[in-house]
This record gives sequence, C-alpha cells and structure tokens, in this order.
Amino acid sequence: MAQTDLAQTRRATVTAPNDLESYWLPFTPNRSFKRSPRLIVRAKDMHYYSADNRALIDGTAGLWCTNAGHNRDPIVEAIKRAAETLDYSPAFQFAHPVAFELAGRVAALAPGDLNRVFFCNSGSEAVDTALKIALAYHNVRGEGSRTRLIGRERGYHGVGFGGISVGGIVNNRKFFGSLLAGVDHLPATYSREHQAFTKGEPQWGAHFADELERLVTLHDAATIAAVIVEPMAGSTGVLPAPQGYLQRLRAICDRHGILLIFDEVITGFGRLGYAFAAERYGVVPDLITFAKGITSGSVPMGGVIARDGIYQAFMRGPEHVIELFHGYTYSAHPLACAAGLATLDLYRDENLFARAKTLEPRFADAAMTLRGLPGVLDIRTVGLAVGIDLASRAGAPGLRAYQVMERAFQEEGVMVRAAGDTIALSPPLIVSEAQIDEIFDKVGRAIKAVA
Ligand SMILES: Cc1ncc(COP(=O)(O)O)c(C=O)c1O
Repeated sequence: MAQTDLAQTRRATVTAPNDLESYWLPFTPNRSFKRSPRLIVRAKDMHYYSADNRALIDGTAGLWCTNAGHNRDPIVEAIKRAAETLDYSPAFQFAHPVAFELAGRVAALAPGDLNRVFFCNSGSEAVDTALKIALAYHNVRGEGSRTRLIGRERGYHGVGFGGISVGGIVNNRKFFGSLLAGVDHLPATYSREHQAFTKGEPQWGAHFADELERLVTLHDAATIAAVIVEPMAGSTGVLPAPQGYLQRLRAICDRHGILLIFDEVITGFGRLGYAFAAERYGVVPDLITFAKGITSGSVPMGGVIARDGIYQAFMRGPEHVIELFHGYTYSAHPLACAAGLATLDLYRDENLFARAKTLEPRFADAAMTLRGLPGVLDIRTVGLAVGIDLASRAGAPGLRAYQVMERAFQEEGVMVRAAGDTIALSPPLIVSEAQIDEIFDKVGRAIKAVA
C-alpha cells in the first residue's frame, strides 16, 4: 500500500471507530455514550468539528483549558519544534533550559512573592503536590503536628486521594474508602435564597469564612497545616466567592499560621480576567495550583507556585541531599514547557486576560437572557464563566442537564458541560461578542427543546 493510502486508511479508522468497547471513558456514562457517541475529530480557534464534520462552537474551552482557542499556530509550531529537538530529558537530577524559562514566566504572572514553580502534569497532581508541600513545610520547620487539611464542601480538587479527600463532591468520595485521615471541610458558599441570579461575586456569604475559626477552635491551630479552596468553585457548577470571603479566609489563616492554598486550576490564566484570580481579589495565598490554561490544553501540564519563604524553608541541610522528596517522571516535560511558553506569549500578545475582563459584562448580560426559560432555577456568572442551574427531573437528578448537553451537541452545534443539573459555560478567551450571543442562543434553544 502506498504511503498516502496508508495514511488515508488510518485517518478513516481514527475518525470512525467501529469498536467502542475497549475504551473506558472517564467521568462519562459509558453505556449511553456508546449508544450515541459524541466524537470530536479536530478543532480550530473557537470550533470543534465532529466525526460527521459538523462545526460546534466551543462553549467550554474544552474542559476549562483551551483559553487561547484551539490549535493556535504558534503553539502547534512550538510543540513540533520541541518534539524534533528534545523529546525527553530526565526530570530528576537533570533539567532542560526551557523549564527554567517557563518557571520564570509563570512566577512573573503570580501575585506577591509567589516565585517558586514546581511542575507536574495535571490539576490533580498539582493539588497533591501543594498538599504535600504544605505538610512538609510545617514538618521541616519543626511544626510536624500540623497535619490536618481543610477543604470545602462542593469543592473539586481533582481525583487523587489528596484531592478527593479535601474535595467536597459526594460522588467523587463515597466509593473510595476512608480517604486521607485528618481532613475537615468548610461549608460551601452558595445559597440560592440569598444569591440567585447574581452577576459576579454575591454580596451575601462572606461569613462562611468564619467557619474556619470554628474549626480552629475544634481542632486547635497547632494541628492544621493548610486550607485549600478554589477562588471560584468551577466543577461543582460555578460558585463565585462571596464579596470579602477570600480576604476573611486569608486573615484567619494569618492569625493561626495556617497556609492558604488557592486551587487555580480553572481560574488561572485569564478565566476571571486576570492571570490568577488571587489578583482579582487582592489576596495573596501561600500556594497556587495551576494546570489546564498553562498550555491552553495542548499538552498536559500542571504545577504549584509557592511563596519564596516556603521554598526557602526547605533549603537547609547538606547540599547534596534532596530537599523535597516529590516529583514526576514528566515534571516540566519539554513538549509541555514549549507549549506553555508559546501559550503565555499568546496571552500576552493578544491581551487575552484583559479581554476576558472587558467581555465579562457582555457575557453576564447574555447569560441572564436565559432567565425565565423552562426549568432555569439560577444563573451565576463571574469572569467568562457561568453556571445555569436547571430543575432536576423527578427521580432522575442530572438527566435534564445531560439532555441539554446532548441536544446542544447533536442539534445546535455548541459544546456545553453538564455537571449534575447545572450547565457550565466557559468559552475560550478569544470568543467574540457575536459568538457569545450565538452560544447563549443555542443553549437557550437546547434548554427549551428538552423542557
Ligand atoms: C479546581 C480544580 N482542581 C483540580 C482539577 C483536576 O485537574 P485534572 O483533571 O487536570 O487532574 C480540576 C479539574 O477540573 C479543577 O477544576
């Protein structure tokens, strides 16, 4: 067979699989997916293309990650060049120059004195890394009794044992045994009664931070290592932090020597109009986790940014001894680093974080046009993100949002995300005003169609 025939045969196989059985899809109802697959075969800028060659406008930036849009030429070129130059170099005991360059660029975007960057490959690894750094930090400073971790109800911190332990989404926890010991949770910050149909940070709810004082009283600060929260809880359905909430958490942590971790896996790299949400709120956490937007989703990468003092606390003892016994084979992988640099260049050159901020009011107005549609219980917006709560069908929670997502994909040509009975939207930051309107028109039609 000629080379081109081979390539064509392969492409045909890739675009139209005839056996869907072997692949066990993550976080997906496998049986209904395999009955009616939603296959994506390519993407460009704001659009996906399905296996039957329909264009779908991307309302979700993939999974909150393709903030610069899809298959952007500079990122593609950078990955190609990196693959040709250095496929891999060992992450332990050796390093490659691009890793240092990227770390410097990430540090420059971070607030305050967060200037030390540890790389990994996903948001879940970033969370585990941050929790381990927090525990080890207290340990090396002689405060080894600080072992307790505090998360939040409805929080999502990925799927590692650390992340599901501090996370607060019941289905992500209840099947997996006893999880990490010594974890407690703050309450979620959402109340439909007090916050429904709010644009931006709700005025009501800062007092939820005071629950941390209660946990300190219960456990004693000397046992608590860190608090981890998402500045905007994303995966649970877009819950923006109430006004003043994060500032209060910071003050309580300071009072008691507790580290504050912002999980910015979703909010990092422009989603809320800033490089990091910490900047939007004027709060400097001790550790920031990131992933997703760092490479605009093109190559897996995650990481943790630490305040200088945290890094310095480890830099003691004999110099030939490893200071932090942690890392991944693919930490700072050359392809990811190249993609990261090209992505940060795009964010800078196209001013995409500021663009998200400028578009925020327009996005919020467009989202609120869905108010009053059948079954819409609440709409929450912040930055370029929105959660639309739908009334659950009797005895079948999650079904209505799933049907909206399917309808949106199959009939309307828009990609949305269903989380429980919430539809979440978070388009790439390159979205135009006309495309914002298009997305909400299509979502509105899908909501009405399945009503
Ligand atoms: C806040 C937050 N943390 C962690 C994660 C986990 O990231 P990953 O799926 O890359 O492991 C996510 C994923 O959505 C997230 O939203």
